[in-house]
Amino acid sequence: MPTTVLIGAQWGDEGKGKVTDHLSETADVVVRYQGGNNAGHTIVVGDERFALTLIPSGVLYPQVTPVIGNGCVIDPSVLVKEMAELDSRGIDPSRLRISGNAHLIMPYHRKLDAVMERFLGQQQIGTTKRGIGPAYMDKYSRHGIRVQDLFDPKIFRQKLEIALKDKNKILTKVYNSLPIDPEPIAEEYLGYADKLRDHVTDTSLLLFEAHQAGKQIIFEGAQGTLLDIDHGTYPFVTSSNPTAGGATTGSGIGPKAIDRVIGVAKAYITRVGTGPFPTELHDETGARMVELGGEFGTVTGRRRRCGWLDLVALRYATRVNGLTELALTKLDILSSFDTLKVAVAYDSLGERFDEFPRQQRILYNCNPVYEELPGWNTDISGVRLYDDLPGEARQYIEYVEKAIGIPVTTIGVGPARDATVERTA
Ligand code: IMP
Repeated sequence: MPTTVLIGAQWGDEGKGKVTDHLSETADVVVRYQGGNNAGHTIVVGDERFALTLIPSGVLYPQVTPVIGNGCVIDPSVLVKEMAELDSRGIDPSRLRISGNAHLIMPYHRKLDAVMERFLGQQQIGTTKRGIGPAYMDKYSRHGIRVQDLFDPKIFRQKLEIALKDKNKILTKVYNSLPIDPEPIAEEYLGYADKLRDHVTDTSLLLFEAHQAGKQIIFEGAQGTLLDIDHGTYPFVTSSNPTAGGATTGSGIGPKAIDRVIGVAKAYITRVGTGPFPTELHDETGARMVELGGEFGTVTGRRRRCGWLDLVALRYATRVNGLTELALTKLDILSSFDTLKVAVAYDSLGERFDEFPRQQRILYNCNPVYEELPGWNTDISGVRLYDDLPGEARQYIEYVEKAIGIPVTTIGVGPARDATVERTA
């Protein structure tokens, strides 16, 4: 049974939820390994729409053990709410397993996220304001509070007090904000202990044993390659490693356990928040993509910036993740365009770039070099077999495959669970 890592190959929002959901049909374990409730995975089952932010989307299948790994940051108020919501809709959340080493997002992280962004003014990152960055800052400065600390009230209070000594000085003296009282936080957070106790376990061991037993494991990346703290468009990134390497450090499984790395990319490209975006369209075409693709964020409701497919960035994502195949989503959104453009290189500061530039100054000044491909002007949402797609749609897919050097094995043609065209790798 293969162990699969599923990665966003763009700036997040590629439609990973639907692809994971599809793979989860036969999976035993589905793991989140980074990020927190900044992610939004929407899955449509019949008439029902599930928007999950923290719990792996595999939870919708009864045979799946969903796991939140050590690399995640957890806002317990959100987690508990998401579990209750699933329960109320007939989906049993008791199978959820959580790493005791995952870090907690605290109320002061959310507050800091908001004031730090405000402070940056025009340079702001456009974060989801869920406290993600400040929680990871505490993790790496070794001032973080972890899930396991919830079960030791004395230690929890001690750590909270130490954290707030520092945070309150920053909030009041740097950001001119009100200080935070530890007591209500201690009461709220220690109240989560009983709700989470049965879910917390050594998830690294759980994964090792599942792998040894030949179980099928899926690692569900959140955000995307270009939002990676190391490999993304820094500083306009998230604070974790969505790239494939993050799956091992964020879950405690060795790299040799991984067999497949599937990248997920939209047939065009979108971004929320600020930062460079070479193929961004500010015109009517971009507005049409927003409208046809329903391009508004699951978590914050923000309008996504849209543009033509960027093959330079996609080739980069293929390389840094070691992708073995690609899932191309929302191909149907392009159905009404007469011609389609794809970026094959960039022009920046008088030079041509075939590879994704690592220097911020170059990236900021990139103008895409486009190739034009014919559109198909036909509704493809009912197509389920590759050969039934219009010739122009197949040409588009095969052009992408050739440019990135890996096969496109899954093609999304609509939001429903079954609106997918499968090809074997
Ligand atoms: P943070 O993760 O909230 O710190 O936000 C950092 C950047 O990542 C911002 O540009 C966000 O808009 C972006 N971001 C975070 N999570 C997602 C996601 O799930 N999809 C798309 N963009 C995201």
